[in-house]
Amino acid sequence: MNAFSFYNPVKLIFGKGQLAAVKKELPKYGKKVLVVYGGGSIKKNGIYDEVMQTLGEAELEIFELSGVEPNPRISTARKGIEICKKEGIEMLLAVGGGSVIDCTKLIACGATYEGDAWDFVSRKAQPKSALPFGTVLTLAATGSEMNAGSVITNEETQEKYGWGSPFSFPKFSILDPTYTMSVPENHTVYGIVDMMSHIFEQYFNNATNTPVQDRMCEGVLKAVIETAPKLMEDLQSYEHRETILFAGTMGLNNFLQMGYNGDWATHNIEHAVSAVYDIPHAGGLAILFPQWMRHNVKVNPSRFAQMAVRVFDVNPEGKTEEEIAFEGIDRLRDFWTSLGAPTRLVDYNIDDTKIDLMVEKAMVYGEFGNFTKLKDEDVKEILQASL
Ligand code: NZQ
Ligand code: ZN
Repeated sequence: MNAFSFYNPVKLIFGKGQLAAVKKELPKYGKKVLVVYGGGSIKKNGIYDEVMQTLGEAELEIFELSGVEPNPRISTARKGIEICKKEGIEMLLAVGGGSVIDCTKLIACGATYEGDAWDFVSRKAQPKSALPFGTVLTLAATGSEMNAGSVITNEETQEKYGWGSPFSFPKFSILDPTYTMSVPENHTVYGIVDMMSHIFEQYFNNATNTPVQDRMCEGVLKAVIETAPKLMEDLQSYEHRETILFAGTMGLNNFLQMGYNGDWATHNIEHAVSAVYDIPHAGGLAILFPQWMRHNVKVNPSRFAQMAVRVFDVNPEGKTEEEIAFEGIDRLRDFWTSLGAPTRLVDYNIDDTKIDLMVEKAMVYGEFGNFTKLKDEDVKEILQASL
C-alpha cells in the first residue's frame, strides 16, 4: 500500500424522510441561508416545496440561486458569491446533483475571498476559509456529496477543471433515495457510468498489497452491475435507487482510495472534451474509458485481467492475460451499451476537427495519469479511437 492519511468530515444522513435533519443541522451556522439549485427539476418533482417548508419550520431567512447548469459555470458561481457578500449569507444548502453541489462549493469558498473565485479553479490561489454548507442530493453519480472536489467550467475560455480544498467538504449531506426516483432514464445511466468510472480510476494504480481495497472496489462494482439493469427496468424501485445512491457515494468518498494513488487520466480527458463540446460528463466517460483501457493494457495486463475475471466473470482458462484483459474491456463496453450509454464521440456530433484543441486543454498541466503518464500523442490516440 502507499502510505496515506485519511480525512472525511462529512456527516452522511441517509434514508427515507431524512430531510427533517436539515432543521437540526443548518441552524448551527446562523439564520441566513442561500439555497442553490439547478434548472427546475426540483420544482417539478416537489423537492423544492419540501425543502422550503422544512427551512421555514427552522425559521431561517431564505435566499435563492437557481439555474445552475449541468457542467456548472463560473458565471453562475460568481452570481451566488455576489448574493452571499451583499446579503451577509451565513450558510448554503445545495439541492440537486453534482453540478449544483460543485457550484455551491465554489460559492462557499468564494464568498469569503476578496479576489475572483476562478483563482481557486485555476490554482492561482487556495481557499483559506469558506461559508459552511450542506447538501440535499437528488442524483446518484458524482460522490460530490461526500468529497471536497468540484468541477467548474469557464464558458468564455472553454476551460473545465477540477479543484478542491479542505474547506470544500459539505458539513452534512442528506440522501433520500426517493429524491432520485424522478431522475430520467438517460441521467440514471450517466450516473451509473460515472460511479463505475470513479472506481476504475482508483482501481488502476501501481500500489502493491492492496487486497482489501481491491475487493472493496470489485464488490461495489459487482453490486452496481447486478442492480443497474434491474433499476433500468423499474426506475421507481426504491430498493434499486437506494443501492445505486449508496454506491455512488462510496464510489468517490475516498474510502476506496486509501492506500491507492488513483489514475484519474480519463476524467481529465473527459473534462477537456466537455469543456469544448459541453456534453454530459458520463456520456464522455462511457466513450473514453474503454479506449483508455485498451490503450494501457500493456502497462499491467494482470491488473486488467484481475478486473475481467473478478468483476466481469471472464473465464480465464487457456487465455493469456492480455486476452483476458481485452475480453473484460469488451464486457464493460457491452454492459454500458446495454444500459443505453453512448459508445462513440460521433454520437454527440463530435468529429476530428477540434482534437488538437482538446489535447491542448487536457495537457494544460503537462503529462498526467498515475497508473501511467499520458503524453499528448497518447491523448490524441485515445480521442481518435473514440471518434
Ligand atoms: O438542473 P436540474 O433541473 O436540477 O436538472 C438536472 C440536470 O439536468 C437533472 N436532475 C438532477 N436531479 C434530478 C434531475 N432530474 C430529475 N429528477 C431529479 N431528482 O439531471 C441533470 C444532470 O444533473 P447534474 O447535477 O449535472 O449531474 P451529475 O450529478 O452527474 O453532475 C455532473 C457534474 O459533476 C462533475 C461533472 O464534471 C459534471 O460537471 N463531477 C464532479 C465530481 C465531484 N465533485 O467529485 C466528480 C465527477 O467525476 C464529475 O466530474
Ligand atoms: Zn466522474
